[in-house]
Amino acid sequence: MFSKDGKHKDVKTPRICDVVWHDGEFIKWNDARVHVMSHVLHYGSSIFEGIRCYSTKQGPAIFRLREHIQRFLNSAKIYRMDHPWTLEQLCDASIQLVQRSGMDQCYIRPILFRSLDEEHPAFGVNPFPNPLACYIGAWDWGKYLGDEAIEQGVDVCVSTWNRLTANSMPAMAKSGANYMNSQLIKMEALLNGFAEGIALDDRGYVSEGSGENIFLVTGDIVLTPPLSSSILPGITRDSVIQICQELGITVKERTIQRAALYVADELFFSGTAAEVTPIRSVDRITVGQGGRGPITEKIQRVFFEMTKGERPAPGSWLTYVNAPKAAAADNNGFSTAAIEAETAVITVK
Ligand SMILES: Cc1ncc(COP(=O)(O)O)c(C=O)c1O
Repeated sequence: MFSKDGKHKDVKTPRICDVVWHDGEFIKWNDARVHVMSHVLHYGSSIFEGIRCYSTKQGPAIFRLREHIQRFLNSAKIYRMDHPWTLEQLCDASIQLVQRSGMDQCYIRPILFRSLDEEHPAFGVNPFPNPLACYIGAWDWGKYLGDEAIEQGVDVCVSTWNRLTANSMPAMAKSGANYMNSQLIKMEALLNGFAEGIALDDRGYVSEGSGENIFLVTGDIVLTPPLSSSILPGITRDSVIQICQELGITVKERTIQRAALYVADELFFSGTAAEVTPIRSVDRITVGQGGRGPITEKIQRVFFEMTKGERPAPGSWLTYVNAPKAAAADNNGFSTAAIEAETAVITVK
């Protein structure tokens, strides 16, 4: 499916919102800059989120916004980032950003990082003297693992790189630094002609992809590694678990051996970017019938129906950005005065 020249493969980005939320104000995309001596660039001191906003008949709807922002706050807490932002404020900022973008669907990226106080610069590892900066950007993002992946599945490998150990870099925090490990996994996979790599944990059990959780289907049972296998507690993973429960499909968290991947009936990835993507081979061993299996297809169909608002979800999973409550979110404790609301997208050529 993919050329061996993985270096040139990237996710399609047709449009970018040309405003960015920064510490309570909306600023122009071109003004969203940091100093090269910022702590984050040298020591990886950032935490972030990735959230999808789907196009629905009732306008754009953000998928599981509160859960994503709660994980963002959890990541900040783990890294002792003492910022002033509340869950409500960050949710409202995300909603307003989508409203301002004029985009019907997009990917939302909140990030909090240690920057540089240029008047009192600090260059050591100790992060405390460095000020925190919080931004939220948005862009329209295509299918993360390729356009055909959702239907046909992807070819993946088991990485030679292990996932992080729980007491070195906590995988449950979505920190920028964790993605150096993800990059090793992803680059190795791409350069060897695979779409993605699956990392094992430090004990040799299956952990997750470089940017996705993994599910295995055996018979009519769905299995996924537990949090103790050094995974990010994925919000799509949680959605898949709840969808299985609603469909009456048995789903269990289990430690999974590498060899179980090869003999699974079906495998699939879950993630905000990857959504629900079937895996058709691992290390060039065909999984099941070598395409999207029937249970994966069923879960995937329900997932997409729920994200499009065409089927009720088990919880309040969609935040409609044009709903009256969202539209009235302007006065929630931060200024939006920096620039006026406008339909603002950069078209990427
Ligand atoms: C390493 C990793 N695991 C799992 C996931 C899936 O998490 P979620 O479904 O919350 O996007 C992601 C994506 O954010 C990820 O980067």
